[in-house]
Order: sequence, then C-alpha cells, then structure tokens
Amino acid sequence: MHVYFPVSSVIPIVLLVLLHYGLEQAANSPVQASARTFDSRTDRDALLAFKASLISKQQGALASWNTSNDFCRWQGVSCSTKHNHRITALNLSSEGLIGTVAPAIGNLTFLHTLDLSMDNMHGEIPSAIGRLFRLRHLGLSNNSFQGEINANLKNCTGLESINLDSNMLTGEIPAWLGGLSSLRTIHIKKNNIGGKIPPSLGNLSALEGMYFTWNQLEGAIPRGIGKLSGLKSLGLGENHLSGTIPTTLLNLSSVIQFSVAGNELHGTLPSDIGNRLPKLQKLFLGMNHFTGSLPASLANATDMYSLDIFVNNFTGIITPEIGKLCPDRLFFDSNQFVATTTRDWEFMTLLANCTRLRVLELQNNILGGMLPNSVTNLSAQLENLYVGFNEISGNIPFGISNLVGLTVLQFSYNQFSGVLPDSIGRLDSLHALGFENNILTGFMPSSLGNLTQLLRLFANNNMFEGSLPASLGNLQEIAEAYFSNNKFTGPLPIDIFNLSTLSKVLDLSDNYFLGPLPPEVGGMTNLAYLDISGNNLSGPLPDTLSNCQSLIGLRLGSNSFNGSIPVSISKMKGLMNLTKNTFSGEIPGEIGQMVGLEELYLSHNNLSGYIPESIENMTSLYKLDLSFNHLDGKVPSHGVFSNVTGFSFEGNMGLCGGIYELHLAPCLPKSMVHNNRKLWLITKVIVPVVGIVICCTLVLVSISLIKKTKSNSKTLAEFHFIAEKYPRVSYAELVQGTNGFGKDNLIGKGRYGSVYKCSLLLKNMMTTVAVKVFDLQQSGSSGSFIAECEALNKIRHRNLISAITCCSSSDSNQNDSNQHAAQVHA
Ligand SMILES: *[C@@H]1O[C@H](CO)[C@@H](O)[C@H](O)[C@H]1NC(C)=O
Ligand SMILES: *[C@@H]1O[C@H](CO)[C@@H](O)[C@H](O)[C@H]1NC(C)=O
Ligand SMILES: *[C@@H]1O[C@H](CO)[C@@H](O)[C@H](O)[C@H]1NC(C)=O
Ligand SMILES: *[C@@H]1O[C@H](CO)[C@@H](O)[C@H](O)[C@H]1NC(C)=O
Ligand SMILES: *[C@@H]1O[C@H](CO)[C@@H](O)[C@H](O)[C@H]1NC(C)=O
Ligand SMILES: *[C@@H]1O[C@H](CO)[C@@H](O)[C@H](O)[C@H]1NC(C)=O
Ligand SMILES: *[C@@H]1O[C@H](CO)[C@@H](O)[C@H](O)[C@H]1NC(C)=O
Ligand SMILES: *[C@@H]1O[C@H](CO)[C@@H](O)[C@H](O)[C@H]1NC(C)=O
Ligand SMILES: *[C@@H]1O[C@H](CO)[C@@H](O)[C@H](O)[C@H]1NC(C)=O
Ligand SMILES: *[C@@H]1O[C@H](CO)[C@@H](O)[C@H](O)[C@H]1NC(C)=O
Ligand SMILES: *[C@@H]1O[C@H](CO)[C@@H](O)[C@H](O)[C@H]1NC(C)=O
Ligand SMILES: *[C@@H]1O[C@H](CO)[C@@H](O)[C@H](O)[C@H]1NC(C)=O
Repeated sequence: MHVYFPVSSVIPIVLLVLLHYGLEQAANSPVQASARTFDSRTDRDALLAFKASLISKQQGALASWNTSNDFCRWQGVSCSTKHNHRITALNLSSEGLIGTVAPAIGNLTFLHTLDLSMDNMHGEIPSAIGRLFRLRHLGLSNNSFQGEINANLKNCTGLESINLDSNMLTGEIPAWLGGLSSLRTIHIKKNNIGGKIPPSLGNLSALEGMYFTWNQLEGAIPRGIGKLSGLKSLGLGENHLSGTIPTTLLNLSSVIQFSVAGNELHGTLPSDIGNRLPKLQKLFLGMNHFTGSLPASLANATDMYSLDIFVNNFTGIITPEIGKLCPDRLFFDSNQFVATTTRDWEFMTLLANCTRLRVLELQNNILGGMLPNSVTNLSAQLENLYVGFNEISGNIPFGISNLVGLTVLQFSYNQFSGVLPDSIGRLDSLHALGFENNILTGFMPSSLGNLTQLLRLFANNNMFEGSLPASLGNLQEIAEAYFSNNKFTGPLPIDIFNLSTLSKVLDLSDNYFLGPLPPEVGGMTNLAYLDISGNNLSGPLPDTLSNCQSLIGLRLGSNSFNGSIPVSISKMKGLMNLTKNTFSGEIPGEIGQMVGLEELYLSHNNLSGYIPESIENMTSLYKLDLSFNHLDGKVPSHGVFSNVTGFSFEGNMGLCGGIYELHLAPCLPKSMVHNNRKLWLITKVIVPVVGIVICCTLVLVSISLIKKTKSNSKTLAEFHFIAEKYPRVSYAELVQGTNGFGKDNLIGKGRYGSVYKCSLLLKNMMTTVAVKVFDLQQSGSSGSFIAECEALNKIRHRNLISAITCCSSSDSNQNDSNQHAAQVHA
C-alpha cells in the first residue's frame, strides 16, 4: 500500500490508484464499477463517512452535503478537473464542526490540502491521514486533538506545512519530522509537547518557520538547528529550555524573528549579534537568565521592530546606540541596567528621532540620576512609558505633557520630588497614571480631572497635602484610585463618591481627612474595596453604606466613628460581578464570579452598642475586626463569629457570649437582666445622687495600689476617680455574697476571668448581681480593667448588663500573679 506516486505524472497515478482500489473492492464487493464512478464514489463515501462521525451534521458547510448534488460542489470541497473528479482540497476551517475525524479520510488519496482548523474536533489525529501521500498542507490548529503526533504522518513525505497549534497534543516532537524534507513551516504552538527538540530537525533544509512556543520542551536547543540556513522565524518561547543559545543559531543571517522568551536560558549575547543577524525584526529574549551588557551592534539590525529583553540580568548602561534603532517597542524592564549621569541616559535623547516608538518600558532597573528632559521629545505616538521602580530623582518634567499619545504613564517607586506638574492634565488619553511611592509634595493639580479616560490612578505614598480636588469627580471612567499615606486634609471627597464607575479600589487611608463619612458614600455601588482607615473621621456610620452592594472589603478602622454599627451593614451580601481587568489586577476570583463582603474592619473607633446579630448571616464574611471599640452585649455564634481566626474583638470590654473558643463570659439570662432593671435604675440614677460610697477592703486595696503606683501612676489617679464616681462594695462583701467565689455561684468562665452570682446589700436592698472576676495576669493590665469599667458603665442597652461598680484587690498572700479584680453587674 505504501507506494510512491510521482505527483507530476498523471497517468500512472490513475492506473495505480485504480489497481489499489480494485484490489480492495474485489474483497468487498463482487461488482466492478467503471474507473470514474468507482473513484468518485470512494471520495463521496469518504466524505459521507466523515460527515457521519460528526455531531453537528446539519449546520454550516455540511448542510449542503447531500447526495442529490455533485460532491465537488459541496461546500469546502475542491476537486481536480484533471484527475477524474477526485478531491484535492478539503477546507472546513471555522465551520464549527464537532466530533472525531473518520478514518475514511484516508481514502481521499488525491488530497493535497486538508484544513480542519478552528473547529471543535477531538480524539487523536487519525492514522489514516498517513495514507494521504499527496498531502502538502495539513491544518488542524485550534481544535482539541489529543494524544501524540501520529507516527503515520511520516508517510506524507510531501508535507510542506503542518499546523497543529492550539490543541491538547502530548508526547514529544518526533525525530522523523526531520525526514519530511519538503517542510517549510511547522506549527506546534500551545500544546503539551515535552521532551527535547530532536537534532534531526537540523536536516529540514527548506524550513523557514519553526513554532514550538507554549509547550513543555526541555533540555538544550540542539546545535543542529543552526544548519537551517533559510530559517526566518524561530519560536521556542514559553518552554523549559535550558543552556545557552548555540552560537551557530546566532549566525543565521536569514532570521527575522527570534523568540526564546520564557525559558531557563543563560549566557551573554555576542558583541556582534547585530551584524550577524542584520535582518532581525523581533528579538524576544525576555524571562530568562541572560547576563552581560546589551551589545551596541544591535543598532545594525536596522529593521528592528520589537526588542524584548525584560526579566533577565542584563547589566551596565543602556548603550546609546539603542537609541539609533527605531523600534515600535522596547521592553527593557526588570534587568540590572544602571544610569547615574546624564550621559547614561543618552539613549533616550537619541530615541527622540524615532517617531514610530509606541512602547518604552524601563521599569524595575537601577536607573538613577535625573530623568532627562529629552523624555519630553519622544514620539507623540508613544503610548506606554514606564520608568517606575528605579532610583530616579528630580522633578517630573513639565514638558511630559508633549507626549499626548500616552495611555500608560508610570513614575511609581522612584524618588521624584517637587510638585506634580499641572500640565499632566493635557495627557487626556491616559488610562493609567502612577506616581505612587515618591516624595512628591504640594497639592494635587485639579487638571487631573481632565483625564477623563483614566481607569487607574496611583497617588499613594507621597507627601501631597491639601484637599483632593473636586475635579476628580470628572473622572468618568475611573475604576480604581489610591491616595493613601499622604497628608491630605479636609472633608472626604464627595465628588469621587458619586463615581459609580469605581469598581475596584478606592483607598483614602492614612491621611488627615476630617469630618463625617457622608451619606454619598452609598453612591459607590460597584466598588469592591473601600479603605478610609487611619484618618480623623468622626460621627456615625451612615446607613447608606449598605448601598455599596459590591463591596468585598471595607476598612473603616482607626478613626473616631461613633454610634452603633448600622444593622443595615449586613445587607451587603454582595452583587459584585467581577469583570475583566484591563491591567494587571489585584482582585482575586474568576471573571463573572459573584462575591459578597468578605472583610470588614471597624477596629479602633468609638463604636458602641451591640453587634448586629444579622452579621452572622453574611455568608461570605470571613474577617471581622471590631477590636478596640466600646461594643458590648452578646456576640453571635454563627457565620464569621463561628471561627476564632476570623473575628477580632479585644478591647471591647462589654462583650459576652459567643462561641466557647472566644472565652467570653456568658451573657446573663434575660430574666436576670429583667429582674435587675430596677436595680439598674436605682444604681444609675439614685446611687450617684445619694452618693453611697462603700469602700473596698482598705488594706487589700492599698496594697494593690502601691504596687500599681510603681508601674503606672495613672492607674492610681483613675482609681480615685472611679472611687468617687461609683458605689463602693467591699471585697469581703463580695466573698460573702458569692459563697467565697464558690462553684455553686459560678455562672461562667472565660478567657479573662469568671462570672459569679452574688447577693449584695445595695442601697439597703438585698440584690442579686453578677460579679465578673478578672484574672489580671490574663487580661494584661489593670489599666484595661479600669477602661472596661468605664466602658461598661456607658452601656445602655436592654440586652446588655450595666456595671455598677468595680473592685480591685489582690489575694491574701499578696501574690501579684494571683491578683484579681471584680466588676459588679446588675
Ligand atoms: C441538498 O443541498 C442543497 C443545497 O446544496 C439543498 O438545496 C437541498 O435541499 C438539499 N437536499 C436535501 C435532501 O437535504
Ligand atoms: C481555508 O479557508 C479559509 C477561509 O475560509 C482560508 O482562510 C484558509 O486559508 C483556507 N485554508 C487553506 C489551507 O487554504
Ligand atoms: C475506503 O474505501 C473503500 C472502498 O470504497 C472502503 O471499502 C473502505 O471501507 C474505505 N475505508 C474507510 C476507512 O472508510
Ligand atoms: C506508513 O508507512 C509504513 C511503512 O513505512 C506502513 O507500515 C504504514 O502502514 C503506513 N501508514 C499508513 C497509514 O499508510
Ligand atoms: C486559536 O486558539 C487560541 C487559543 O488557544 C486563540 O488565542 C486564538 O485566537 C484562536 N485563533 C482563532 C483564529 O480563533
Ligand atoms: C538575577 O540575579 C540575581 C542574583 O544573582 C538572581 O537572584 C535572580 O534570580 C536573577 N534574575 C534572573 C531573571 O535571572
Ligand atoms: C555596524 O556594522 C558596520 C559594518 O558592518 C560596522 O562597521 C559597525 O561597527 C557596526 N556597528 C556596531 C555598533 O557594531
Ligand atoms: C535626528 O534626525 C535628524 C535628521 O534626520 C538629524 O539631523 C539629527 O541629528 C537626529 N538627532 C538625533 C538625536 O539622532
Ligand atoms: C482642563 O480642561 C479645561 C476645560 O476643558 C481647560 O480649561 C483647562 O485648561 C484644562 N487644564 C489642563 C491642565 O489641561
Ligand atoms: C457577570 O458579568 C459577566 C460578564 O460581564 C456577564 O456575562 C454575566 O451575565 C454577569 N452575571 C450576572 C449575574 O450579572
Ligand atoms: C438569618 O437568616 C435566617 C434564614 O434566612 C433567618 O431566619 C434569621 O432571622 C436571620 N438572622 C438574622 C439575625 O437576621
Ligand atoms: C477558620 O478560618 C481560617 C482562616 O480563614 C480557616 O483556615 C479555617 O479553616 C477556618 N476554620 C473553620 C473551622 O472553618
């Protein structure tokens, strides 16, 4: 069956094929048809068998494939006029075909072109294709073919191009490929091919393009590839290749595109690389471990269009000759390039003559000194200018506004000082502007509001002052903005809150913003993260906050917010629909995923009242920080409260209940609270007036006070204060009333101490109260004890218990470690 048919001779082909099929036919059918109908029928049957193995048969091209018309008219089918109506090309590219390739395809022995690219075919590449000995072009790209590259393809010795890109092929690149001597292009991009590149490929003397990008290839690049004297494009990027680039390969003067980016290659570039590869248009060496300097000879590769050497360890200055190239894109970022003097920036001056330059990325090097003013003479076509993460000092040049084509401008993480020039407002094509982590001073220019296409703005970590310009409310496209850690003052920018485009981050933290959180905050209905922590904000949290239905993270900590936590906050169940990020985004999660509020930080404020129980119903919430407020009452037990790692509450002395692991005292039963409401009234209203003053057992108290005076004189003063303000209860009375702090009177035990039921004579009435005994070793300092006394006393809520008074003492052997303190609760 494996016979070589010279393509040029017509008659022998017909005869031999006839013979071939005649034999098969003889075995299958007694009827001998005429040569013409037989051959045609074979082709037609093969097409019908092909169609039969597909899942979607009636759509697209195949709808016209029926026996009532000539198959040569079927869509995608081309027949030869010379060879008795045989099919020479089958092109069903992008027809949405789904299914496997029927082996019958091997019967189309006159095929020279088979194109099934961009369909939904799966299964293995059928062996039958090996019977298509006339095949010159095989296109199977963008399907879901699996398995190895079928070894029967080696029978198709006339193949000129193979395109297997974007499939799920595994195995290795077969060595026999080197035997297909007519091959001009091999595409195997985006598969899962591993192993080494076979040296036999060096025999493909006609090869012009070799595309193996995005596979799992490993080992060294074989030297033999350097024999491919006609090679124009080499794509070996995004594999695991190691070693150095063979010098032979760098001698291929025909090469136009050379990509080995994203491997583990090392070594230096030969100083005459530009003379050896004079036709180079694209040189992609990024993301490897190359070292040494950038050869000046690259300037002789005058057709250079894109020079990508990012993420390597190239050193030295960026040679001025680079500025004589006129590329479209220069990616030099994340290397070790240095600059100290003006001369070291010479390349920038020379680049000014290049009007085609669109991308210049220099970030993350060791470039220092001043940014040369010549940067303002770069092409007005320049779209991306990155100089961040260097050591550049001096001012941002005023003339930067000449670069009107800029869409991305990055000055981030340098030592730029002075003011942000007002002229920046002229760069109205900007989508992203970053000058964070510099030492810029002065006001934010209000011209920033002219950047109406801006999506991302990074102004954080500078020394800006004054208020945020109201013009920022004109940024009608803004999705994220960072102003944190500056010296901004004044009220929060209501104009920004009205921007419903804000969908990712608004960070105003660590400034000196004053006043309330305005109700307008609820306008940010699409925002995922809001941080206004670390300011001087005060007043209550507005109910409108719950309109921010897309929030994933909310940080309001370290301000002076007061009032209670709005119950409405639990309405933030989340409608956030993550959308595609236009730049490198920080937001985790799948695009289109629905998420709700996950993190809520309210710590270090003056919030009081109880924790809204409905918070436990916020299913996505896993981090809740309420620490250092004046909250009290019952801690819920479900949702975020059910996991100690997610819930912070220290510094709120009035909390009780919650899950056992919190070690909080249990909340008193409601009946007890109720019974003692009267007492609460008496002690809170009448007691201060009447001024009942009971003294703690004086000896014990004074011992403990002397001890504390040594460490903290403030405590003493506070204690006097407390003694004046609150009824005095003696320690002895407490011991008596609790049966010597006996087990029977123990209501609950927590991390900071125990709670006892206690009968006490208060205002001449025998009353049942709760006594909370602190273990001072646990609770830290007596200061917090006093603070808690203070905090507890301010509490006014029906479910919560009020403190009547406090008592501090140490035990009879005056052992400091056994010190305890008690609070008396109604
Ligand atoms: C066969 O295809 C032709 C179009 O090429 C169409 O007009 C005809 O209806 C089809 N016949 C059947 C039986 O589907
Ligand atoms: C197949 O057809 C598409 C357009 O339908 C064309 O772009 C492609 O080049 C063709 N394939 C071959 C191998 O000619
Ligand atoms: C190829 O054609 C022959 C003759 O029509 C037929 O017997 C055979 O089944 C076909 N092969 C396949 C794989 O369909
Ligand atoms: C390819 O050729 C080998 C012999 O070199 C033969 O055994 C095999 O059957 C052929 N494959 C096809 C599909 O014709
Ligand atoms: C082929 O698939 C790749 C991804 O695998 C995709 O990027 C490319 O756009 C596809 N090509 C076409 C023409 O659909
Ligand atoms: C550059 O060199 C440093 C220090 O030797 C090394 O840690 C780093 O991984 C290197 N980077 C690359 C991209 O090779
Ligand atoms: C560019 O090529 C010319 C001629 O081959 C050579 O004289 C010159 O030194 C080369 N330039 C660089 C920078 O290597
Ligand atoms: C820019 O080009 C002009 C003329 O093409 C030339 O006179 C000038 O010297 C060039 N400038 C630089 C910096 O190369
Ligand atoms: C901003 O736009 C306004 C109105 O279009 C204009 O008057 C002002 O000069 C612009 N500012 C800058 C710095 O471009
Ligand atoms: C989420 O966004 C995606 C992409 O924008 C959209 O297709 C999807 O319908 C949206 N889902 C919901 C529930 O809004
Ligand atoms: C929590 O949700 C459950 C079920 O939807 C509901 O019955 C309960 O009342 C909710 N709790 C609070 C405190 O809102
Ligand atoms: C508690 O939360 C932590 C961190 O969020 C998590 O790793 C852990 O699995 C959670 N524990 C339980 C019991 O849910």
